[in-house]
Amino acid sequence: MQRIKSLSEYFNQYEKSQSDPEGFWAEIAKSFSWIEPWKKVLESDFEKADVKWFIDGKLNITENIFERNLIENKDKTAIIWEPNNPDEDTKKMSYQELYEETCKFSNALKDIGIKKGDRIIIYMPMVPEATIAMLACARVGAVHSVVFAGFSSTSLADRIDDCESKMVITSDGNFRGNKVIPVKSVVDEALEKSNSIEKVIVLKRTNQEVNFVSGRDFWWHELVKDKSSECKAEVMDSEDMLFVLYTSGSTGKPKGVVHTTGGYMVYSAYTFLNVFQYDKDDIYWCTADVGWITGHSYIVYGPLLCGATSLMFEGVPTYPNVSRFWDIVDKHKVNQFYTAPTAIRALQAHGLEPLENNSLDSLKVIGSVGEPINEEAWHWYHDNIGKGNCPLVDTWWQTETGGIMISALAGITPNKPAHASLPLPGIIPVIVDAEGNELSGNNVQGNLFIKSPWPSILRTTYGDHERCINTYFSSYKGMYFTGDGVKRDHDGYLRILGRVDDVMNVSGHRMGTAEVENAINEHSEVIESAVVGYPHDIKGEGIYAFVIINPGSENDNIKNQITDVVRNVIGPIAKPDKIQIVSGLPKTRSGKIMRRILRKVASNDLSNMGDTSTLLNPDIVEEIIQGAIN
Ligand code: WTA
Repeated sequence: MQRIKSLSEYFNQYEKSQSDPEGFWAEIAKSFSWIEPWKKVLESDFEKADVKWFIDGKLNITENIFERNLIENKDKTAIIWEPNNPDEDTKKMSYQELYEETCKFSNALKDIGIKKGDRIIIYMPMVPEATIAMLACARVGAVHSVVFAGFSSTSLADRIDDCESKMVITSDGNFRGNKVIPVKSVVDEALEKSNSIEKVIVLKRTNQEVNFVSGRDFWWHELVKDKSSECKAEVMDSEDMLFVLYTSGSTGKPKGVVHTTGGYMVYSAYTFLNVFQYDKDDIYWCTADVGWITGHSYIVYGPLLCGATSLMFEGVPTYPNVSRFWDIVDKHKVNQFYTAPTAIRALQAHGLEPLENNSLDSLKVIGSVGEPINEEAWHWYHDNIGKGNCPLVDTWWQTETGGIMISALAGITPNKPAHASLPLPGIIPVIVDAEGNELSGNNVQGNLFIKSPWPSILRTTYGDHERCINTYFSSYKGMYFTGDGVKRDHDGYLRILGRVDDVMNVSGHRMGTAEVENAINEHSEVIESAVVGYPHDIKGEGIYAFVIINPGSENDNIKNQITDVVRNVIGPIAKPDKIQIVSGLPKTRSGKIMRRILRKVASNDLSNMGDTSTLLNPDIVEEIIQGAIN
């Protein structure tokens, strides 16, 4: 695959991707190895949410990681693993070693009864075995669904049930900062609430005692012990499912975003190579967790398809101290560093002292993902981590898009603070105003849509295709709706403004307001609740909950209890930052909560509250303002 090397080449490629999209993508797809070539590049009908790429092509994505690269790359390091505790040894796995471990585990999966098309939940810490588990699923044609190991047993059970998973791959525990998290016991709890799981594979990581159900639970190390290090890859159709990844939307229940094999492979690799301008001997580090799409596309698939060295970090940026990220950059001479604005803001708050003993001079490219990066954080990151001379790529994309959609190409597209900048080749962003008019030209702002399909667009939401159509393809005929607001400035550069729907972005994690409300409402004394996001210095957005409880049930502890319920139902990442007990919620005469008012109260922006006289209960507004937590 050729890498774009100059701005004029980018414009040429962009132009080609518009005038001949099929020819453009076919050319890129040819650099992969296909067991059988595709018969047609693209079939697409956005109204039915029916998109297919590289039709009838046969391949296995792991053959494109391993067999395609092994001749040149056998001894090259595929994964550098940095453990939570810096005193524990770093692990390095070459492409040959990763291949052999993947094959052994693939054989173990097959021996234990896994067949093509089976769904497997992966609920694991950030260890190389998480990558091996994903690749082994892909090798044998099983569909992985990685669940972030911070989710609660209820969230895990919901996901198991939704995709009718047969197996969970997990670990005994997880080291995270100074905590040891009992991962297996969360799985055990989830299995009490779900029905489809037949087998559980457990990796030993912390060596803590775990409950073991004979016939159901198996140790990873015992299963792979005598397995062959060769495993023939399953022949997959280009449109066979590669993975399901659950993500939050406007409605209560997270949805399973489905990605398929051929298009996802082509797009994740192409965008990795071009956005980060990866060079053959570079060390690349993305700090995401494999439980999120960023980990899928830019720790595992994109980098490994390009034969890159991908660093995987088990721990957190603040352990054992706030220099940890920078120590890792220096220790492994990281060239490309990709993280979220939340992490930047949290580290920025500690000032420059934690950087005093770090040179950071290996860095060539720094990146940002997951939420809008504010200008202050952009400059801090650019000046102090990038030392003013590393291009900063602000990459906008989503679980549903599979790969980066709008971003500078490092060192090629001029940097503009807080702007994701320009669309990648093949991507046509469209700005639409509230009345549904397409806004052409510069200096415009509206909702962000994408015209025409790209290879890694989601194919469906698992088990509910109607929901996929309604969520993404119904707002504007013939276009994909992103849920984000955007501005095109006077130079034609795009700046993402954040979500325009009921999805919050808390520390770069997507969280539906309805999802958090449903969790709060599980508390037996709660009558009703309304959740909104508000600007938060570190997290980007914080969670503010307005809660009505049964009269007389107020006690000193009620807010803590509500917080605990949310932690148990979703996980710690969904805990409200502020809980205000109220006697009512502002409602329209048709009974709808007026969130606009709540958002203003939560943001402490009491100017221009708008017309509240049409409310069913206008008096409640004053009470809520008086009781607001600022
Ligand atoms: C937001 C993460 C501004 C956006 C890859 C999007 C961003 C949601 C950026 C998707 C960015 C992601 N600038 N906002 N560079 N990147 N977002 O599915 O609101 O976890 O819709 O995918 O994150 O979150 P998701």
